[in-house]
This record gives sequence, C-alpha cells and structure tokens, in this order.
Amino acid sequence: MSLLLDEIAVAAARLAEAGIDSPRADAELIAAHLHGVSRAGLHLVADTSFEPRFWDDIARRESREPLQHITGLAYFRYLDLEVGPGVFVPRPETEVMTGWAIERLAEMDVTEPVVADLGTGSGAISLAIAQEVPRALVHAVEADPLARQWARRNIARCAAAAPHTAGRVQLHDGDFAAALPELDGAVDLVISNPPYIPLGSWVPPEVGEYDPATALWGGTDGLDAIRAIEGVARRLLRPGGRVAVEHGAVQGAAVYWVFAEEEGWRETRNHQDLAGRDRFVTAMLP
Ligand SMILES: C[S@@+](CC[C@H](N)C(=O)[O-])C[C@H]1O[C@@H](n2cnc3c(N)ncnc32)[C@H](O)[C@@H]1O
Repeated sequence: MSLLLDEIAVAAARLAEAGIDSPRADAELIAAHLHGVSRAGLHLVADTSFEPRFWDDIARRESREPLQHITGLAYFRYLDLEVGPGVFVPRPETEVMTGWAIERLAEMDVTEPVVADLGTGSGAISLAIAQEVPRALVHAVEADPLARQWARRNIARCAAAAPHTAGRVQLHDGDFAAALPELDGAVDLVISNPPYIPLGSWVPPEVGEYDPATALWGGTDGLDAIRAIEGVARRLLRPGGRVAVEHGAVQGAAVYWVFAEEEGWRETRNHQDLAGRDRFVTAMLP
C-alpha cells in the first residue's frame, strides 16, 4: 500500500473516533482535494508527493468543521459551489426537491419560466435550475448579506463554467416575506429551502457551529418561515403555478396542512427524500 493510503487509513480511524459518520470517505475526499485528483485517482498519487497539510485538515474535520468548509466546495446536482463561513452548505435532500421543480418547469408550456427561490443561500437551487432549464429566469432572494456574497461568487463562477446561465439568476436582498412585489401573480414556480428547525432542537456541531443561525431556526415549532412562504407563494404565483417547500423529516403532516387548510391550493402533496423520509411539500394554485 502507498504511504498516502496508509495515512488515509489512520486518518479514517481518527475521524471515526471523533464521531464522524463517513470517516473513510471524508479522509479520502480531503486527500483528493489536496492532491488535486478525484477520489478514484488517489491510488495514482506518488508516495513522494504526500501533502503535509493533510494532517492539519484532518484535525479540522476531527474538531467537526464541515468537510465542505475544509475543501471550500459543495457539490449540488451538476454544480460545484464555493462555500465557507457565513453560508449554509447545500444538502443532498434539497437536490431531490430541485429535481422535482426542474421536471415541472420542463413540462410547462411557457417560453421563459419565471422562478422565485426564497432564501437562496449559496445560490444552489437557483443555479441548478438556471443550468438545467436554460430558458428559466430565476429570482434568488436572500436576507443575509454574508450569504449573498457567496451567492454572488457562485453566480459568477457558474456563468464562467456554463455561459447559458449568465444573466439568468438575479439576486435580490431583503426579507422574502415582502419580496418581489413587481412579480405578483406572474411567477411560474416558487421554491424554498427555508429555516425549519424548531428552536431548542439538538443539531450536530457541523450544523450548529458552522451553518448560519438564520439558515436553521424556524421558531418554536420550526414552521414560522414555511407559513410565511405559503403566503408569499400565493401572492407571487400565476394561476397554475407551483410551489415546493422543504421541511424536516417529522414535519410532513404539519407542512401539508399549512397549505391544505388555506383556501386556494390544489394538489397539495408530500414528497420523500432519497432515504424515504418526508422532505418537501408541493402545491398548485388553481
Ligand atoms: C436552509 S438555508 C437554504 C439555502 C439554500 N437555498 C440551500 O438550499 O442550500 C435558508 C436560507 O434562507 C435565508 N433566509 C432565512 N430567512 C429569510 C428571510 N426571511 N428572507 C430571506 N432569506 C431568508 C437564510 O439566510 C439562508 O441563507
């Protein structure tokens, strides 16, 4: 075995000891990032080129700093996005909801579908839609100035890598509750991964110490932002428009009723993530 693979095995044992869920994968991804290769290319790295910063980065991960902050990158659908302090790290659960939105947009008989992404963070949802639905015009709303800086960087990064996204994502500052009044009744799809964790809930250190508080906490029952989004979506959508909102695994029934008990929604549905847990609700304005 090569020196690097030996070191990875030791690092993985240390990460397991620190309570990391995927210790081997994290150790390999840190090594791959430092050596500028894919995970599969690690066995090709020459013994002589062992990167000493590896142990510094393993120590950071051991102290529960998120892997994505260490590498500076998060993968989301077909994008790699820059992330770090001050922005929520996009999660795989959100890829499923974004995929649902992309399918609905592709089915719509609209030349340039208009989308509102409420609480865009790194810009993950907006940019994935712009990349995969080339004619979409996406309005990305974000209240947190630090998060907006990351979104701006990712919009530029994405435009360089995929020029058809240039100018297709417009970033707006401010509270989504009052956002985009000029688009009232004109939006084809509203999508949001809002803060939805009930205040006082336990979260792992990677989340509680690194994701911004404004991205996490949704009031006493976790539904404050989701209730606001229900109202905003009703205001923004055109007849036949659709909304998708992410929620926590045990909030499926509650979020269903946030929409179902309000007049004017049709086809309210629960959807599951890849692990089979309730993860997002969709509805249509008749
Ligand atoms: C859970 S993060 C999701 C970020 C991104 N959409 C994603 O899925 O990775 C929620 C985001 O909503 C933003 N946010 C929270 N409340 C907001 C509000 N009232 N108005 C605008 N943005 C808000 C937070 O700053 C945060 O960036």
